[in-house]
Amino acid sequence: MSLSLIARSISESPTLKLNETADKLRQKGEPVIHLGGGEPKSKAPIDALVASAGLLNSGEVRYTPADGIGPLKKAVVRYTEEFYGKLISPDNVMCSSGAKQAIMVAMQAVLNPQDEVIYPAPYWVSYPEMAKLCGAVGVAVKADNGGFQPTLADIEEKVGAYTKMVILNSPNNPSGYAYSREFIADVVQFCEKRSLYLIMDDIYHRLLFGNNKPISAYEFAKDHSENSKLIIVNGVSKMYAMTGFRIGWAVANKKLIEAMTNIQGHQTSGPSALLQYAAAAALNGVQSGVESLRLTLENNRNVLIERLKSFDGVKLIPPQGTFYSFPDFSAYEKDSTKLANFLLDKVRVAVVPGKDFGMEGHIRVSYCGTIKDITEGLERIRWALDPNAPNELYIGQRKLVRDWL
Ligand SMILES: Cc1ncc(COP(=O)(O)O)c(C=O)c1O
Repeated sequence: MSLSLIARSISESPTLKLNETADKLRQKGEPVIHLGGGEPKSKAPIDALVASAGLLNSGEVRYTPADGIGPLKKAVVRYTEEFYGKLISPDNVMCSSGAKQAIMVAMQAVLNPQDEVIYPAPYWVSYPEMAKLCGAVGVAVKADNGGFQPTLADIEEKVGAYTKMVILNSPNNPSGYAYSREFIADVVQFCEKRSLYLIMDDIYHRLLFGNNKPISAYEFAKDHSENSKLIIVNGVSKMYAMTGFRIGWAVANKKLIEAMTNIQGHQTSGPSALLQYAAAAALNGVQSGVESLRLTLENNRNVLIERLKSFDGVKLIPPQGTFYSFPDFSAYEKDSTKLANFLLDKVRVAVVPGKDFGMEGHIRVSYCGTIKDITEGLERIRWALDPNAPNELYIGQRKLVRDWL
């Protein structure tokens, strides 16, 4: 079969593949604990369900404008004012089928083949592949100290003639790390100075713990004109537990939104009307679900941190938001893919290898599930790796006997 150069360069999403493998094992009756997940377990807001059910019952579910329905764009305008302190117009907004599509279309609107897109490591698995889909090149920037936040100088070092765009995702998937205000301010101002596009991937924006508060990149921008190259991406997937609704958006200058809308118009047209009305209702409706999700996740995170302390040699930079942690397990196994396969194989615990996020030696352990999943999952991992653990472990009625340490 002859496939295009682009098709041959794109790899399967490791996180989607992991979900599939875990599902298949579960269907076979295997007692899998999924600590690799990327979605909250709470229910979608009732306002969202009522709004989409109302339209569904009418039987009149039609095409929508390529940039999204008016009520959702208005809801995004209001949301941007409330949570970013920025007044925008509906012409600055394009709604998409998930934040993923908003990022992809923004890249397609500005990148030429060979252009470079810079992002800190660890990074979301899709950034390098999305760059490739545009014929462009993803460039990861690692912090010198092995941490999760590079310096502006580290970023500057990677900027060259082909650099067109920078992406920041904070709080971050996979580390849960929230970049400091100073770092975000530095990057916003640097991108303005060097005339680079900056995508702020804010999909976990309000899922922050303790004293960490959502940061608005607009606060640091000097250029508030329609020439601004700042692109804010957000959506309802994570904060409103609406991953399957597939609604996200981009906020940017009007010309760029127009170009993005033209692209999206030919790709998929506007997102489903049912789901856009649901998203608008979630944004305009009762917000207590976001806060209760945030508190649940913070509690889960605290339990995970406590449990991880019992692992000798595992290093963890405590997550400040999201529902991911990114511990360094290299004291047990340096090859994270080998480690993840081993854990799924031996103790049926699914985690994602750090290598896929650009940081070998780490694994992504999610805490979006139940406390029981977190504690039992980590207990199984400890049993599999700790030479001093007893030789046998019971998973329900099943007795596991260790024959590998
Ligand atoms: C960092 C990051 N950006 C964007 C997305 C995509 O979000 P959506 O489900 O709205 O497409 C995800 C989803 O996992 C993510 O982790």
